[in-house]
Amino acid sequence: MKSSLESLLNSQVLLLPSKKPAAAKGPNSIRLDKGELPFAPSPLVIEALKREISQINRYPELLGGSLRKALAQYTQAKVEQIILGNGSDDLIELILKVFVAPGDEVILPSPTFFIYEFATKVVGGIPINVARNKQFDIEIEDILARLNSKTKIIFLANPNNPTANLTSREKIIELLEKSDCLVVVDECYYEIAGLSVIDLIESYPNLLVLRSFSKSFGLAGIRLGYALASSQIIDYLYRLAQLFPVNRLALVAGEAALGDLGYIEENIKKIIQQRVLLQQGLEALGLQVYPSATNFLFARTTGITSAELVESLAQQEIYLADFGLKQGLDAYYLRIAVGSERENELLLQAISEKITGDIIK
Ligand SMILES: Cc1ncc(COP(=O)(O)O)c(C=O)c1O
Repeated sequence: MKSSLESLLNSQVLLLPSKKPAAAKGPNSIRLDKGELPFAPSPLVIEALKREISQINRYPELLGGSLRKALAQYTQAKVEQIILGNGSDDLIELILKVFVAPGDEVILPSPTFFIYEFATKVVGGIPINVARNKQFDIEIEDILARLNSKTKIIFLANPNNPTANLTSREKIIELLEKSDCLVVVDECYYEIAGLSVIDLIESYPNLLVLRSFSKSFGLAGIRLGYALASSQIIDYLYRLAQLFPVNRLALVAGEAALGDLGYIEENIKKIIQQRVLLQQGLEALGLQVYPSATNFLFARTTGITSAELVESLAQQEIYLADFGLKQGLDAYYLRIAVGSERENELLLQAISEKITGDIIK
C-alpha cells in the first residue's frame, strides 16, 4: 500500500475516540452506572422470546410489522407516524444522517445525553452546547440566540440525562413555535416521568419524539426504540434506515411487553418508591440530590470528588457513573441508577463507610 491508511479515511473518524471494552463485571456486582432497571423482563416477554427463537433463520419483517401496529395503539399515533430502531441510539444517528450535512449545526442544551454530540460528529455536524441554568432547566432565550441558517436540530432529552429533570410542556411549545429547525424531544423515560408531547406531532411538523424500551420496559439488552413524527418525516427516515434495523427477537419482545403493561406499572411504582428512599439516604450522608423524574438520581458530593467516590465503590463492585469535570460540570457530580431495595441499601452502606472512613483518617 503506497499511501497511508489515514489518507483513505473519512476525516470525521479521526475526530472520534477509540472505544475500549469495559472491565468485566462480576455476577454479584451492583450495576448502577448505566441507568438500567434492576428487574427481569415480564414473563410474557420471556415466553414470546422462547417461541420466536426457532424462527431466527428468517429475516424480520421489513418495517416492523405488528409491533408498529401495537405501538400505534399504545401511543394513539398512526402506523405511518412511527419508525422502529435498534435502540433509540440508532434512531438518533439516523435522524442526524437524514437532517444534518457536514458543517450544519445541532443545538445541545447541556449537560445532556452524550450520544447526541457523538452522533453529530459522526455525520460531520457541529455540536453547539448551550449551558442549562443552575437548576439544569433550559433557557429558551439562550437557545434561540444560537439559532441561525445552519441550525438543523435541537435535541431536548425530557427528562434529561444525566440531570434527571423535566422541561415543561409550555417551554417545549415555545421552542417549537419560535424555531424553524427540527426539535427532537427524547422521551426515553416517558413511562416513569409521565409527561409527553406526542399529542403535538399533528400540530407541529418540526417535532419528533423519541421513545425507548430500554428503561421503563426493562429491555435495554434487546435494543429497541421508536420515534414518532409526521408521516413525511418518518418516510424520510425510513429511506435511509437499514433494511432490517430491528431483529426478530426485539420485535416480539416489544409486542409482548406492550401486552403486559400491568407488570411495567408495578415495576415503575417500585422504582419510584425506592428512588425516594435512596434520595433520603444519600441526603442523610451529605450528598446534594437533584429532583428526578427518571429511574436514576443526579447527585453532588462535598469534600470528596465524584471520581474518588466512584473509584472507591468500584473496588467493591458497586458501579456508579462519574460526571465530574464532564460537559461543563465541576469535579463533584455523579449519576446513580435506582437499584433493587437490597442494592440501594448496600450502596448507602458503602458510601457511608467511605465517607466516615475518610473523616477518621
Ligand atoms: C435520554 C436518553 N436517550 C436515549 C438513550 C438510549 O436509549 P436506548 O437504550 O434506547 O438506545 C438513553 C440511555 O441512557 C437516554 O438517557
